[in-house]
Amino acid sequence: MAKLALMLSCLFLGMAVLVVHSTNIQGPKEIDEWFKTLNNSKEKLTRLHFYFHDAISGKNPTAVKITEPADGFRSPTSFGQVDMIDNLLTEGPEPDSKPVGRAQGLYAYASMEEFALLMVINFVFTGGDYNGSSLAVLGRNPVRHQLREMPIIGGTGVFRLARGSATARTYSFELESLDAIVEYDIAAIHY
Ligand SMILES: *[C@@H]1O[C@H](CO)[C@@H](O)[C@H](O)[C@H]1NC(C)=O
Ligand SMILES: *[C@@H]1O[C@H](CO)[C@@H](O)[C@H](O)[C@H]1NC(C)=O
Repeated sequence: MAKLALMLSCLFLGMAVLVVHSTNIQGPKEIDEWFKTLNNSKEKLTRLHFYFHDAISGKNPTAVKITEPADGFRSPTSFGQVDMIDNLLTEGPEPDSKPVGRAQGLYAYASMEEFALLMVINFVFTGGDYNGSSLAVLGRNPVRHQLREMPIIGGTGVFRLARGSATARTYSFELESLDAIVEYDIAAIHY
């Protein structure tokens, strides 16, 4: 039985390798065309700069606590809490500055020693050439540090196959409401 399972899985693995290497695969037309141009294109670097509005309080919060540890576990660093966000991104630091996109995803308090978030966020852009394109961030964000760096692990649209680095600096933080405005600088390599 075990032998049969092994044989079957080898068969499937073999097939997977075969399929990945096939040159006859056809995907959606737009993606196929893009991959053809990719074969001869060079990587480029794009820098982006915007402000992230972490609105926790007020009438229309965009960062919402969705869970915290059960059984009365209490941590001075909020360890275990998870917040879901759909935060506004703007060109300048004021909330009514020109919108450039949203930050959608979640952050989780992942350290028992300091306020450090696990960020699982997509920056979804709505402005100009980047409209509809997105960048995916997965990283550690120790929010009390002056400068935090998080990896960009991918993207879509203009940013398809992107990788890069996002740096965050707190522009303002209100202790009472916990609302924060964070300045982001992005350097992304893509095609
Ligand atoms: C990419 O370019 C190589 C060399 O020019 C060619 O042999 C190959 O078929 C191309 N691949 C695709 C998917 O177009
Ligand atoms: C962005 O794209 C959407 C959907 O394609 C469109 O409705 C919208 O007008 C575009 N916005 C800008 C600023 O180009």
